[in-house]
Amino acid sequence: MAPRPDPQADVRFMREALEQAASVLGRTSPNPAVGCVIVKQGRVMARAATAPNGRPHAEPRALEIAGKYAAGATAYVSFEPCSHFGQTPPCADALIAAGIKRAVVGCLDPYPPVRGRGVAKLRRAGIAVEVGVLEEECRRLNEGFITRVTRRRPFVLLKMAMSLDGRIVAPRSGGWISSAQSRELVHRWRNECDAVMTGAGTVIADNPRLTCRLKGGRDPVRIVVDASLRTPPQAQVYRLRSAAPTIVATIEDNAERAKQRYSNRNVEIMAVRGSAEGVDIRALMRELGRRGWSKILLEGGAHLAAAALHAKVVDRVAFFIAPLIFGAGMPAVEGIRASNAIALAELRARPIGPDWLLEGEPV
Ligand SMILES: NC(=O)c1ccc[n+]([C@@H]2O[C@H](COP(=O)([O-])OP(=O)(O)OC[C@H]3O[C@@H](n4cnc5c(N)ncnc54)[C@H](OP(=O)(O)O)[C@@H]3O)[C@@H](O)[C@H]2O)c1
Repeated sequence: MAPRPDPQADVRFMREALEQAASVLGRTSPNPAVGCVIVKQGRVMARAATAPNGRPHAEPRALEIAGKYAAGATAYVSFEPCSHFGQTPPCADALIAAGIKRAVVGCLDPYPPVRGRGVAKLRRAGIAVEVGVLEEECRRLNEGFITRVTRRRPFVLLKMAMSLDGRIVAPRSGGWISSAQSRELVHRWRNECDAVMTGAGTVIADNPRLTCRLKGGRDPVRIVVDASLRTPPQAQVYRLRSAAPTIVATIEDNAERAKQRYSNRNVEIMAVRGSAEGVDIRALMRELGRRGWSKILLEGGAHLAAAALHAKVVDRVAFFIAPLIFGAGMPAVEGIRASNAIALAELRARPIGPDWLLEGEPV
């Protein structure tokens, strides 16, 4: 007999599964970050998350820890268990074989080979399945993966720091606009995204590193969008030591020249179709999606931000508003005509130290 449902316990254990998933965010592409918790008679027998690079999945890892105690237990899984043979056998089969009697699933997987089939397989095997516990949080955690499989490109988070009057360049060079607390949040995002992207203008002006400076964090891949190869090869982003490479995304005509110009071992050249503005941003995003990358943090200047918004590849804007009024300087977005104004579905605001973070999704 399946264990009796207990809505409060379901939420509590799903939250634990979500915590597991969150701990590996940014490390599991091309697969989603999933958490699995096995519970028997109210006690946790195992907790596990998807392994680095996406394999093994969370469910077989948790089942291995639970061993014989999985029989008759409830499995809490933040994302629908897979039902198809990919690089690993189906997780739904593993749950069935282990004798799981009840499964609580956070959200369904929109990936066509799975999409509801994992849950159907469990039900056919006589497992009691409940779907949708903490559904919104489970979806949001894997918004990158969901965007990639439904839109064939990564989720793009456009981050900018600005004064109250919308200027993104501090009058004194070297000065930060946003607070230490805001910058720490950005480092957390770098830690969770597959890649961070910026434009040639920002590399020339700021010489950023674009690494993750959190204790225990890991560097994302860095992508510099540079159509005419204006960025100097001695820029920090091309010279720093990092486990992740820096990619120069340039137009096809300049790819060979780029290979010679940026010959550092840790730099890769990506040739992308050109557009009137330089690199075709949509084509670039599609290529990043083909590589299995799910989430990109866009930290460009005003021109790259405008190009990405105009190309409709931005899924969320995150604007940090600092308590400063500059009165002059570069605006946050440069080059969108008023007739092409971007609307956001809603705007959420929260304080981060002395700053306000405004977030919203373009419609
Ligand atoms: N406060 C903040 O959050 C923040 C964040 C980042 C930067 N910034 C500031 O922004 C300033 C730089 O802004 P920016 O607008 O000059 O530089 P940017 O947006 O970082 O880079 C723009 C450059 O990228 C290249 N590019 C290639 N393809 C493109 C495309 N499709 N669309 C747009 N650009 C493309 C172009 O150079 P090529 O034609 O040569 O390829 C273009 O000039 C700096 O002063 C920096 O401090 C502020």
